[in-house]
Amino acid sequence: MYLLLGSLLTVVLIANAVPTYYDKIVDSKINGRSSTSTLKKNPQLDIRKVHALQQGLPTSNIVASITCIKHVVVANSTKLTSCIDPPVSHQEVIKPMLENISVCNMQMQLDHLAGFFTRYYKSPMGLLASNYVLDIVRGVAGDASRSDVSVTAFNHNWSQPSIIARIPGSSPLLPIVILGAHFDSINAKDPDNGQAPGADDDGTGTVNLIEAFRTLLMGGFRPSHPVEFHWYAAEEGGLLGSRDIATTYKNANAEVLGYMNLDETGYFKPGTREVIAMQPAFTNGELNVFLQALITNYTRLPFVMDIEASGQATQVLQCNYTCADHATWGLLGYPTTFPYEAMIGYGTRSLHTAEDTPDKVNWTHSVEFTKLAVAFAYELGI
Ligand SMILES: *[C@@H]1O[C@H](CO)[C@@H](O)[C@H](O)[C@H]1NC(C)=O
Ligand SMILES: *[C@@H]1O[C@H](CO)[C@@H](O)[C@H](O)[C@H]1NC(C)=O
Ligand SMILES: *[C@@H]1O[C@H](CO)[C@@H](O)[C@H](O)[C@H]1NC(C)=O
Ligand SMILES: *[C@@H]1O[C@H](CO)[C@@H](O)[C@H](O)[C@H]1NC(C)=O
Ligand SMILES: *[C@@H]1O[C@H](CO)[C@@H](O)[C@H](O)[C@H]1NC(C)=O
Ligand SMILES: *[C@@H]1O[C@H](CO)[C@@H](O)[C@H](O)[C@H]1NC(C)=O
Repeated sequence: MYLLLGSLLTVVLIANAVPTYYDKIVDSKINGRSSTSTLKKNPQLDIRKVHALQQGLPTSNIVASITCIKHVVVANSTKLTSCIDPPVSHQEVIKPMLENISVCNMQMQLDHLAGFFTRYYKSPMGLLASNYVLDIVRGVAGDASRSDVSVTAFNHNWSQPSIIARIPGSSPLLPIVILGAHFDSINAKDPDNGQAPGADDDGTGTVNLIEAFRTLLMGGFRPSHPVEFHWYAAEEGGLLGSRDIATTYKNANAEVLGYMNLDETGYFKPGTREVIAMQPAFTNGELNVFLQALITNYTRLPFVMDIEASGQATQVLQCNYTCADHATWGLLGYPTTFPYEAMIGYGTRSLHTAEDTPDKVNWTHSVEFTKLAVAFAYELGI
């Protein structure tokens, strides 16, 4: 989670960007055609209409249903007419796989990550943490004997690289499915010298994704879409790692079917209702509905859109500034979704301090996000 520290420039930028999320998609995809108001009224239609319009296809047969997110986003006429797959359709394969999820693996990896005095992106230890993630993820691919899977460091213009694991798609031209978390940490009072174990922010999301990646590979996952796992550097520096990568993808005209972000998954205030909270800002209505079906089918928790719950909250509390890496992809027009540990205000209170330690992580809760990551990668990527 990236805390906005009163930067005027960022605030101004966001003030313009937030209300125009759908406008941005429409503007970029259909060159300024002003169907924006229709799309705003019915966000379930957006991506499909955009793609149909883009190809000069009729839009009248596009109904507001989530049953064809996968194929329609692929964006071709044949795909549009064979749009029959329900989004949640592989329970018999995925549910047994979920039983292979190891909390013990996640605990060991989190202890190791939190053992770095800090993972701040400018710190030499931040580089060691990046090497650790690279080694672990390479080890996972090696153990599964998957030489087709690549694990690479993405170098930035600062010392801490991001890490990208790519499971190739059997149809390599299909849009990419991406899951991301950030592994850097920060002590907000003293970034350069303060201790920053970053257990929940975002050690939890980092190890959820490593374990989801392992579970999928051990289950022999061979998707038709390319599926990528991203572990970002320098999120706490202002989403720098994800911005560098997403901009590179955008400039290469990469198509992304869906991006799911995990950031803080291991704590909810004792005595409150245990939920999976979902962020409305910078996320995509259609992908959110898809995620809700995954949550109901594959986890034991209910979902709550954070905006419903925190109606009285301030803008910053609602996270509707660029509070995490999903916003990077969202601002570039990619469909994103962002589930997290609790409604804002009921999650971790140790953010960006030396107190964000592994003993506060509730694994019974966090493991649900690993399940969700496996389901997201499989159902969208297969
Ligand atoms: C859709 O299919 C047609 C022909 O089958 C092809 O020429 C075109 O490039 C495809 N469009 C996309 C976006 O893949
Ligand atoms: C699973 O997802 C489908 C949507 O694909 C939904 O209709 C169904 O109710 C879900 N099952 C449960 C148990 O929630
Ligand atoms: C669970 O993992 C083992 C390897 O540890 C693998 O052989 C097995 O096929 C996996 N099961 C599923 C359902 O993915
Ligand atoms: C380093 O990268 C950041 C983020 O991509 C960019 O804003 C900055 O201008 C770059 N600095 C240099 C020296 O290239
Ligand atoms: C952001 O928060 C403000 C204030 O609560 C609200 O009016 C606005 O609709 C929110 N924007 C988004 C995109 O959620
Ligand atoms: C951890 O979460 C479980 C449910 O997932 C809950 O029963 C338990 O009370 C939580 N532990 C703490 C210390 O909050």
